[in-house]
Amino acid sequence: MNTATATAAMQKLRSEEAIVVPSLLLCDFGNLERELERLEKAGVKALHLDVMDGQFVPNLTYGMPIVEGIRKRTTLPIDVHLMIAEPSKFVSQFVDAGADCITIHAEVQENYVEVLDQIRELGVGVGLAINPDTALEEVAKVLPNIDMLLTMSVNAGFGGQAFNPVVLEKLSTARAQHEHLLLEVDGGINLETINSCFQAGASLFVVGSAIFKQEDYRIAVERLCEAIGR
Ligand code: DX5
Ligand code: ZN
Repeated sequence: MNTATATAAMQKLRSEEAIVVPSLLLCDFGNLERELERLEKAGVKALHLDVMDGQFVPNLTYGMPIVEGIRKRTTLPIDVHLMIAEPSKFVSQFVDAGADCITIHAEVQENYVEVLDQIRELGVGVGLAINPDTALEEVAKVLPNIDMLLTMSVNAGFGGQAFNPVVLEKLSTARAQHEHLLLEVDGGINLETINSCFQAGASLFVVGSAIFKQEDYRIAVERLCEAIGR
């Protein structure tokens, strides 16, 4: 368990007005240590890890061992995005692996409110993700009690998809109604789309392709920050 470090990590995320959070989905897993060094040198302040099970989404990525391996090599806050059908079975193991914040999807077949409670009891940040087709109103009742809302700007499952602007109104409504919430946006975030999300109230910008498909991660991150006036 890493409750104290998770609390500190969440405070750090709250203190940031706007940060780019790389999604490691598209990184070179044959050179993970080097990738982490490149990201740290690029000045990133947190990492986003996409866990997919081939059931909740039609794609399969990685699980606890990769989170644990990354945890050993960085002190950056780790935000784990679980795109899995039965998160209740695994959240505790992801906490043990070193997650600082765990985000589950509202669209799972399980009772997601109970899984959010389970995450809270484990002492890490509590996140809820909603896909583009899920309205903010559908999850309104839990928003006062969670730390982070992840508004998906693509359907969860794959990197490299086009940004869906349906997310913008959700962000601005959530920002106006829930001052305490960390607002994260994920999917198709690039130089063209990042600023609209910033203007709508997001502070955590998950980025895959617009970093990992670039030669120089530092330049990619700098340009994204410039696009939101950082
Ligand atoms: C999608 C993932 C994202 C995604 C981001 O299911 O949650 O984190 O990989 O990648 P880009 O920036 O390429 O859309
Ligand atoms: Zn993600």
